[in-house]
Amino acid sequence: MAELPRHKVLLDEAEMPTQWYNIVPDLPSPPPPALHPGTLQPAGPEDFLPLFPMDLILQEVSGDRYVDIPEEVQDVYRLWRPSPLFRAHRLEKALGTPARIYYKYEGVSPAGSHKPNTAVPQAYYNAKAGVRKLTTETGAGQWGTALAFACSLFGLECEVWQVGASYDLKPYRRTMMEVFGATVHRSPSELTESGRRIRKDDPEHPGSLGIAISEAVEVAAPDPAVRYALGSVLNHVLMHQTIIGEEALKQFAKIGETPDVIVGCTGGGSNFGGLAFPFLREKLAGTMSPIIRAVEPVSCPSLTQGVYAYDFGDTAGLTPLMKMHTLGHGFIPDPIHAGGLRYHGMSPLLSHIYELGLIEALAVPQTECFTAALQFARTEGIIPAPEPTHALAACIREALACKESGEEKVILTALCGHGHLDLASYDAFLSGRMVDEVITADRFTASLADLPDVGA
Ligand SMILES: Cc1ncc(COP(=O)(O)O)c(C=O)c1O
Repeated sequence: MAELPRHKVLLDEAEMPTQWYNIVPDLPSPPPPALHPGTLQPAGPEDFLPLFPMDLILQEVSGDRYVDIPEEVQDVYRLWRPSPLFRAHRLEKALGTPARIYYKYEGVSPAGSHKPNTAVPQAYYNAKAGVRKLTTETGAGQWGTALAFACSLFGLECEVWQVGASYDLKPYRRTMMEVFGATVHRSPSELTESGRRIRKDDPEHPGSLGIAISEAVEVAAPDPAVRYALGSVLNHVLMHQTIIGEEALKQFAKIGETPDVIVGCTGGGSNFGGLAFPFLREKLAGTMSPIIRAVEPVSCPSLTQGVYAYDFGDTAGLTPLMKMHTLGHGFIPDPIHAGGLRYHGMSPLLSHIYELGLIEALAVPQTECFTAALQFARTEGIIPAPEPTHALAACIREALACKESGEEKVILTALCGHGHLDLASYDAFLSGRMVDEVITADRFTASLADLPDVGA
């Protein structure tokens, strides 16, 4: 009997990786340090203490290649991990491509995305440090849900500033966070100086991730019982997400495949880094040679159109300065449908890796993304979150190029979340109300002119 086509590659719970991978020591040069905004000197652990517990600060600056995943965290991971690796047979057939398309599906988590991979350890280390409450921002609503879930498991309170556009469009994300016990505010809010300043001019302001971060940081920093948790951007967050790539490596080994192209969407860089870094380790070691490509929205193109400079991580300028690809901390992206990609900057680690020429980047307009999402949903059966539709669009571009050239490339992407609570965006697309923003460089002139001056 002919062998039936395999749709998914599964790992047993016992095969789940037990260490996160830190790519920093394997890079040809380390990323530039974060700077204290007052002294402009490299920020030390004490500069981060008002925001994060020491365990996470040490992970942020760690030079160790591997960090053990605590037993308590592994135990929670096993609620949904290892996550499946799918082969997109039906999508391949619909495209008529000789390429083999694989996607690592993170929508199986309680929040519906990759975000609990870092929410759980962040809640764990904060609880261990005796913290009472975590504050955070959320753009897509996925991160807020993930942190609310993680806090509920470790007995922490959770207060979330949800970006206004997301709060208005996704009421059930708020409900989900509340089910897990969190308190949720529309950002910008009246509760903080950062929020009030913006609401003075525009009470209906759609908000941005940068503004919501300012609000959450402003509340956490002065209170020793409260800490802040970030869902992306930082080294330790990307490191927690490497469980995705480590699992995918094992899954590829099981079927004797290696990827030729890896594509992932980038907001702050965490699902992309999480998938790509273990493969990049192998590439740097010479065991495989995939092209690794980051995909961002045309409306918020930090990697492809931003400058590589020191900037604040938030709009109000409350965080340490980080060297990253940025459109300027004052840049407010249009309220596009992929709320998780509306961030003015990019992870400093990923930015550095991009500068080293180890990854490529491209920007895709949202209607192409949703066209790809429909094609994916109608063949593979999963409705993607708006963010990974960017990766799917790039995946389809690559698969169609293979159709032209006849190449049988192996393409791997992260389907980092489902879109079950993003149906308003699908509705906008299906009813023809979704438009692509035409964006020219002058859109960033003002915000780029306002970058902090760190000298030569
Ligand atoms: C489903 C999903 N994908 C991607 C992102 C973008 O973040 P990152 O680049 O850190 O993966 C988000 C952020 O909220 C998200 O919710």
